[in-house]
Amino acid sequence: MASPESSAAGGVAVIGSGLIGRSWAMLFAAGGIPVRLYDVDPRQVTGALDNIRKEMTLLAQSGSLKGALSAEEQLSLIGGCSDIREAVEGAVHIQECVPEDLELKQQLFAQLDGIMDDDVVLSSSSSCLLPSKLFAGLAHRKQCLVAHPVNPPYYVPLVELVPHPETAPATVDRTHALMRKIGQSPVRIMKEIDGFALNRLQYAIISEAWRLVEEGVVSPGDLDLVMSEGLGMRYAFIGPLETMHLNAEGMLSYCDRYSEGMRRVLKTFGPIPEFSGAAAEKVHQAMCVKVPDDPAHLAARREWRDGCLMRLAKLKSQVQPQ
Ligand code: NAI
Repeated sequence: MASPESSAAGGVAVIGSGLIGRSWAMLFAAGGIPVRLYDVDPRQVTGALDNIRKEMTLLAQSGSLKGALSAEEQLSLIGGCSDIREAVEGAVHIQECVPEDLELKQQLFAQLDGIMDDDVVLSSSSSCLLPSKLFAGLAHRKQCLVAHPVNPPYYVPLVELVPHPETAPATVDRTHALMRKIGQSPVRIMKEIDGFALNRLQYAIISEAWRLVEEGVVSPGDLDLVMSEGLGMRYAFIGPLETMHLNAEGMLSYCDRYSEGMRRVLKTFGPIPEFSGAAAEKVHQAMCVKVPDDPAHLAARREWRDGCLMRLAKLKSQVQPQ
């Protein structure tokens, strides 16, 4: 199935061609890197290649295609593949994108362990499985880490790099450099921890949002505005720590002025919500007023969101040249 021009020599093998595998393939091609796209279901690969062609054509038409190459040049770098051995042969990086199921991923890694070279990096897209569990017992475990993207990866550049205790530092360094090369923004998580950094922050926010709504402090719609019209405005450009630094005469001044108030408020935070029952029904109904939960409305809203993220990414590239 692989086309002759899509040799993965010096390139990347993407294993699993669903939502995330397709995005990775587009990002690597945007960086000028040859990609072999493999899936256990060959129809998924065919569908992914069609979908990538359509997406790249639309992106090129709207002037939003990433990278220096044309859409046709980028497309010629991506080849479909129905043989896993052929997919990884000669690759310098393997990006795994199969469903979030520990046993399934472990089986796949055991298979890859038997066919991968000693100098290729094996990287999992897992959102929340710990790398020490994913890669336990593999002969090539020093070459393994998690590189967790954020959906949709084409517009949201963060990638969390999560090593396990036996990952070689060079594995992290090489993956960091590769992510930079394709225009993503990698961060190094120095010790593996459940939820990594992004989901721990996200769950902290969701948790307090839920409690405020459940306790009748604020409506679901207004709660979302607190983020989209408030905190989120600056969080697209600076993080919470820099926010503290800028909101006083530096960090120590902020701690001096506000730590007592922060600690007082933090002590009033309630227990972990159940995310079920009457509260879930209330939030669901409020969300459905804005976006009915049928596939058409959800898809239209996701398309609108992606368009917003694309414009935000353009703005960020203008104000924050890297
Ligand atoms: P998906 O369900 O869209 O795609 C998974 C693909 O893997 C399917 O095409 C399936 O046929 C294929 N597959 C299943 N078993 C396989 C095997 N043994 N060998 C090769 N291919 C196989 O899943 P999605 O959403 O792309 O997620 C992939 C990974 O990315 C998961 O670990 C997920 O947690 C992670 N991730 C997902 C995000 C999201 O928002 N969807 C965001 C960040 C990470």
